Amino acid sequence: MSKPKITIPFIQQAKAEGRKLVMITAYDYPFGLMADEAEVDIVLVGDSLGMVVMGLDGTVPVTMEQMIHHIKAVMRGCKTALVIGDMPFMSYNTCIRDAISNAGRLMKEGGCDAVKLEGGVDFSETVHSIVKAGIPVQGHIGLTPQTASALGGFKMQGKDAAAAKQIIDDARALENAGVFSIVLEAVPAPLGELTARAVNVPVIGIGAGPDVDGQVLVTHDLVGLFDKFLPKFVKQYTQIRPIIIDAISQYKKEVQEKVFPGQEHSFKMSEETLAELQKLI
Ligand code: KIV
Repeated sequence: MSKPKITIPFIQQAKAEGRKLVMITAYDYPFGLMADEAEVDIVLVGDSLGMVVMGLDGTVPVTMEQMIHHIKAVMRGCKTALVIGDMPFMSYNTCIRDAISNAGRLMKEGGCDAVKLEGGVDFSETVHSIVKAGIPVQGHIGLTPQTASALGGFKMQGKDAAAAKQIIDDARALENAGVFSIVLEAVPAPLGELTARAVNVPVIGIGAGPDVDGQVLVTHDLVGLFDKFLPKFVKQYTQIRPIIIDAISQYKKEVQEKVFPGQEHSFKMSEETLAELQKLI
């Protein structure tokens, strides 16, 4: 029997109930299916697909069309988890009208349940307008990969007291703007805890320590499918890449040595049909 769909209120209630939220990324149908089988709460179709799926150096070039394409694929596999579509760079930064229209496209054309966008105080008006239009929004503060170059690269944020206070202000502004949850990336663990305590919405950490309301990891990192670089906060639960390379190498060897395909992987033809065919050719 299929499980009931996870809803925004279920995510919001997790904090009060002390239930840790589990969120991963997915970019296609098989990973959407596997996320549901593993019974995670939230699946993010992240713009990290630019790096782990498309081989780009960052997330900036990712387009609305690419996001919609991948969200659609994930939605075909993911029937239980709440699916969030990431708003790509410049899809919400130009003006509020664009932001609402692009958030609407991710939901209407992609079919996701909510959207995520990067930014704190400076984007609170944008978030408020999208929420008012009826679209649930997840915030993303701390290290914001789309503007990583302005932050000095993919580095820990909130190092000094003023920068840390700004992150808490960002979280409060997003909560007031109506987000249902916040992703907090790459900050010292004590700041993760203080930020989670400062707001009533769940704070989902990625490199924000254990004392937040949930965790998110990029799935390609946690299963060892992406090996270009590994941030300090990633735990690899398996190494799927060498297993895949080994399978492909075995296939190559068997083709070259004429072991594959064997009888068991070949279609048969009756002797009569074969004899008849041979007369015809
Ligand atoms: O795009 C992404 O995968 C993300 C996660 C790192 C939270 O934003």
